[in-house]
Amino acid sequence: MNKTALFDSLTEQKPDQLLELIAKFAADPRSGKVDLGVGVYRDETGRTPVMKAVKAAEHYLWETQESKSYIGPEGDPAFLRMLALEVFGERHAGKPVAGIQTPGGTGALRLAAELLSLDKRRKIWIGTPTWVNHQAIFASVGLQIGTYRFFDIGTQTALVDEMLTTLRNAAPGDAVLLQASCHNPTGAGLSRQNWQDIAAIIADKGLLPLFDSAYQGLGHGLVEDAAGMMSVIEAVGEAMVAVSCSKSFSLYRERTGAAYLFGDLQASLNKGVGNLASHARTSYSMPPAHGAAIVAAILQDPSRRQTWVDELNEMRIRITDIRRAAAEAFGQFRPELAGIGSQEGMFSLLPISPENARRLRAEHGIYMPDSGRINVAGMRVEDVASVAERIGPYLA
Ligand SMILES: Cc1ncc(COP(=O)(O)O)c(C=O)c1O
Repeated sequence: MNKTALFDSLTEQKPDQLLELIAKFAADPRSGKVDLGVGVYRDETGRTPVMKAVKAAEHYLWETQESKSYIGPEGDPAFLRMLALEVFGERHAGKPVAGIQTPGGTGALRLAAELLSLDKRRKIWIGTPTWVNHQAIFASVGLQIGTYRFFDIGTQTALVDEMLTTLRNAAPGDAVLLQASCHNPTGAGLSRQNWQDIAAIIADKGLLPLFDSAYQGLGHGLVEDAAGMMSVIEAVGEAMVAVSCSKSFSLYRERTGAAYLFGDLQASLNKGVGNLASHARTSYSMPPAHGAAIVAAILQDPSRRQTWVDELNEMRIRITDIRRAAAEAFGQFRPELAGIGSQEGMFSLLPISPENARRLRAEHGIYMPDSGRINVAGMRVEDVASVAERIGPYLA
């Protein structure tokens, strides 16, 4: 019998550039090396510690949890209820909401993509540049991807007019992906007026907004970072939201997140969640429980919640301090880069060629992906000026 060569028909997949960077950084023996590549929060000592609130919740769970039996594809109802309160507030725009626990924000986005496809949506609009995984997630369920330019690297500004024009020309029923805050990879924020304009067009054209909320609390504050999203939900009435607890609870590898649906009819939302659960059942059965149990234990207990809020504020303030220093230091090389100071979250996008990003790695041990995205939390405040001095000559 002739055997065909195993997996012969498959195409070779490129390794993830950010994961490659982590390995190269670890192998670099130079003491002055700086990692601006990896997308996780770093404290002043360069670590990504377990939050104190998380430790306290784990301790509580260790003492009280009596079973590891199955929960079900929808996950933990207490987690979903408490997280919704935190993300959407008590009023949640006065709209019914229903949700399902997911393996991280990626799991939520993938489930949302599946639902769009099941609901026979044709197309999703995505501003570029965006998180590297976004387009691939929606393309993988067969949705058409429409793109528009969201950001101009040269001037470090969001191209809101291009976005509004694109949405004005979108077809009714199309979905539009919006990052709720702390835009990855540009850090560009939107004003209250921008959000109102976006909301008006989405409502007028009958588009369906899908929010990716992965950095709540790391921009301007927990409530502030959700305000734009909530104004759109309030005006439009229908929305999907993918929430990641990876960054705001530092739970990265615990794969904790949720997908929420907003709409006027609870029955439609229940049908939506039922379809999400049915899809979950045939792909991973049910979400990992530990991270969600931690989040629920934090949010249900006022003292643990306060510890978490304080720690998140500390992280946010550190990011703001680095941004202030970076605006001054990079602004000396390119005046527009002073804009880093008013951007939000961990990421900014430097005007740098892929060739020069590689040279910076080789010649100075400064690691960033070829795109020029930097994680500002990869620097200590007192090192910002010297890092900028080394990067400056390589800027485009
Ligand atoms: C914009 C954005 N959305 C979603 C995610 C996914 O996060 P998670 O690790 O929870 O899947 C990330 C992670 O980097 C992100 O940057």
